[in-house]
Amino acid sequence: MDTITMRQAGDYVDKQVKIHAWVTNKRSSGKIAFLQLRDGHEYFQGVVLKNQVGEETFELVKHLGQETSVELTGVIQTDDRSSLGYELLVESIKVIGESHEYPITPKDHGTDFLMDHRHLWLRSSKQHAIMQIRNEIIRSTYEFYNDRGFIKVDPPILTGSSPEGTTELFHTKYFDEDAFLSQSGQLYLEAAAMAFGKVFSFGPTFRAEKSKTRRHLIEFWMMEPEMANYNHEESLKVQEEYVAFVVRNVIDHCGSALSTLERDVATLEEYTKLPYPRVSYTEAIELLTENGFDDIEWGDDFGSPHETFIASKYDRPIFIVNYPKAIKPFYMKINPEDPRTVLCADMIAPEGYGEIIGGSERENDYEIMKENITKFGLDLDAYQWYLDISRYGSVPHSGFGMGLERVVAWLSGIEHIRETAPFPRLLNRLYP
Ligand code: 4AD
Ligand code: MG
Repeated sequence: MDTITMRQAGDYVDKQVKIHAWVTNKRSSGKIAFLQLRDGHEYFQGVVLKNQVGEETFELVKHLGQETSVELTGVIQTDDRSSLGYELLVESIKVIGESHEYPITPKDHGTDFLMDHRHLWLRSSKQHAIMQIRNEIIRSTYEFYNDRGFIKVDPPILTGSSPEGTTELFHTKYFDEDAFLSQSGQLYLEAAAMAFGKVFSFGPTFRAEKSKTRRHLIEFWMMEPEMANYNHEESLKVQEEYVAFVVRNVIDHCGSALSTLERDVATLEEYTKLPYPRVSYTEAIELLTENGFDDIEWGDDFGSPHETFIASKYDRPIFIVNYPKAIKPFYMKINPEDPRTVLCADMIAPEGYGEIIGGSERENDYEIMKENITKFGLDLDAYQWYLDISRYGSVPHSGFGMGLERVVAWLSGIEHIRETAPFPRLLNRLYP
């Protein structure tokens, strides 16, 4: 007898199999019991007939606690009423690990309660669906960049530099020196792009941001490509092709997860259409002013309501390009057509999900870069290695960073970013 998971059920119709599962729910009447089961792959039903399994097993089934782990044998049957299309006609059942008074019951629980039990909450079908979408975004990301000749470079997590400003750093001791947890691998990736042409990283980054919003995590995963001899517009093309590719793969490979989440696939289809509109920062400010936003003027950074409003004018993600220099990091290249601004773009997702990508062409003039580092109050000594990029064979280069969890939230259609990471680090939450 083969041991299978329910994902293989289609190959075993009318055959006897063994399956390891957990009991999520059950109901029984005089002669028949229905077990709701999950095996880590699928959620499915086991049917137990009293006259087939005998009195003793039937009694055992009636008293199984939620999340008891069991080893089942039985026969796979087609079941047109379930979304999976198959169920198990149970022949025997063995309890592997008992479970009593499981804290998460089918009734509604508050957010704090669920977050305190995140290690158990992960077992729910909704969380499983979100993690499948996360996994597909990661898988298709590797496919996209590997197919295009990028080489993966892993920047260090313990660093002495702070590309995105000094206010949101996690400090730690590095023996006798001060170190920070990486905010972004960008500066290291720029150096690597000069060595290998096209590189990308995909790893954890940290921001000690005192933001408690539906879009902010303290620890999140960023996907960062960096490309030598790419200008700003060439980088935007990579960005839109990449995002459309990820959306396409999520639609094609995560059908059942999307339906569990009740995510409208026709809406997602719109996001695979290129190009994504380019809107300048200045145009965006005008649009906001014309529409009665009196809390923002040229030179200010956008808040969520601003981003959401601008994005709502389009049916797909957009780029807001050329922000004022003063509100962007030191490494961005001045826009030669309007030196008040820089050659940068934020990609804003539709439906209120906000900024999912930040990127720019990088300054590659040694003198300007040196001046910028000082102007931004950074310690020139710590950046000598970085200055070597513009000192030895400098070339135009561009790159960007995409926040994985924001994209997971957007494609899953869920309200809050806390459900996009298996064990999210949020403001004031380190448990579990
Ligand atoms: O815009 P950011 O800060 O850009 C950088 O760090 C660049 N150095 C990247 C680069 O050019 N290589 O961050 C990039 C993206 C944002 O667009 C957002 O999607 C995500 O990272 N992000 C966050 N996601 C969750 N929680 C937070 N606190 C985030 N901060 C940024
Ligand atoms: Mg940004």
